[in-house]
Amino acid sequence: LHYKIITNDGVPEHLISLIKLKNIFRKQLPKMPGEYIVRLVLDRNHKSMVAFKGDLIIGGVCFRYFERQVFSEIAFLAVTFSEQVKGYGTQLMNNLKNYVMKEGIRYFLTYADNFALGYFKKQGFTTEVEPVLPESIWKGYIKDYDGGTLMVCKLDVDIDYTI
Ligand code: ACO
Repeated sequence: LHYKIITNDGVPEHLISLIKLKNIFRKQLPKMPGEYIVRLVLDRNHKSMVAFKGDLIIGGVCFRYFERQVFSEIAFLAVTFSEQVKGYGTQLMNNLKNYVMKEGIRYFLTYADNFALGYFKKQGFTTEVEPVLPESIWKGYIKDYDGGTLMVCKLDVDIDYTI
């Protein structure tokens, strides 16, 4: 796999990749309103790390930074159905961790779909948010939504997650 960070910067090729990733999110996250997925994936405050297998996009993650609070919110994450449970979701997360740490980010927050709690726990996320990142730091910055559980992950700058 290789990874590209893609934003909606007006380059046609980037837009095509984002639309393909959006289609994976829509299929894999059926409970999320489709327009909401489109809006965030194309929003210029959001970036996506897109996972390619050859020329094929097999998954990715859409996220945004809150630089002053040194956390990043993961909005959507998915691997296409036929490529799941092969370790790609873990590789994707490890690459994302290394990437955001270089940009000064020290925490991830995400509202995990209940089916994905097990996956996020394996990636070092916990539902015990308050002791790791107090509510005063993130309240009002990230939008909570029903059907998801808030999880946090503290990143360790001494770790190269891709090794
Ligand atoms: N529940 C429990 N464990 C899981 C789940 C799950 N739903 N999915 C994967 N795992 C486990 C795997 O068994 C594996 O365990 P192991 O290391 O002991 O073998 C580990 O988590 C990592 O598995 P990967 O193969 O790296 O994960 P995969 O490539 O399948 O990607 C992902 C995981 C992204 C959750 C994928 O299954 C997917 O796209 N699911 C549908 C969409 C989804 O639920 N996305 C997250 C929603 S929340 C959000 O977007 C903020």
